[in-house]
Amino acid sequence: MTDWNAQHYLKFGDERTRAAIDLLARINLSSPRRIVDLGCGPGNSTELLWQRWPEADVYGLDSSVEMIAAAKERHPDRSWQLADLEQWSPDEPVDLAFSNAAIQWTSDHGALMKRLIAGTADGGALAFQIPSGSFAEVRKLIHEISREERWNDRMESARQELKMELPEFYYDALASEASILDVWESEYHHVMNSTDAIVDWISSTGLRPFIGALGIESEQTEFVEELKRRVAQAYEIRANGKVLFPFRRTFVIAYR
Ligand SMILES: C[S@@+](CC[C@H](N)C(=O)[O-])C[C@H]1O[C@@H](n2cnc3c(N)ncnc32)[C@H](O)[C@@H]1O
Repeated sequence: MTDWNAQHYLKFGDERTRAAIDLLARINLSSPRRIVDLGCGPGNSTELLWQRWPEADVYGLDSSVEMIAAAKERHPDRSWQLADLEQWSPDEPVDLAFSNAAIQWTSDHGALMKRLIAGTADGGALAFQIPSGSFAEVRKLIHEISREERWNDRMESARQELKMELPEFYYDALASEASILDVWESEYHHVMNSTDAIVDWISSTGLRPFIGALGIESEQTEFVEELKRRVAQAYEIRANGKVLFPFRRTFVIAYR
């Protein structure tokens, strides 16, 4: 798969960071000392962490060379680590393991929950947010197009790349290790300038594996154009020309 494009990812930065702000607002820890941002991307979620707890030792971890480079460029004085969060095992447990919009890129969430909570100190918390396991319309359309005969055979791993379990899965996976579990979903209705903007949004995240599976540029263009056509039919344009993009997200905070 192609590497992340940090610049394009930041294009909808305010909307993407909104869920991180909402997650952070619900975390009931007074003064965590050691904090990690797992899948920190270009550092937009990490910034929120050191703003809220300026005294804490905060570091961002990401497996993308491009994202870590972007984070370092934006904040050269901060700590960044190029690593896979699926292998994360801190020398000393952290007081807060935070992750915004990253865990959906990993595959075995049962094993991951055990690993992440094990890396969190007593009295600390694991807090994460991912898109909801209930499919957004645009995602259904991407999967629908991927099943067309011309490229269906090449799309199996792209269809598996994103993994989102339902809220009860995370509850069950963490219940034995957590003293309190706070699990909820919120649906945001992002205001977009056009239906094409929805495709633009998703092209730096959920669409990437599908485009990456198509080696030839003309096929990639064909896929995106077909998606634009279907998105234009599926999402209604409001009277003022804007389009609402409903985006449901799952939030979990597990206190140890
Ligand atoms: C959608 S971005 C989220 C960035 C940031 N946390 C935010 O709130 O905007 C997802 C990030 O997860 C990272 N990621 C995906 N799989 C990962 C893994 N196994 N280990 C570490 N980072 C991973 C990607 O490189 C990407 O930077």
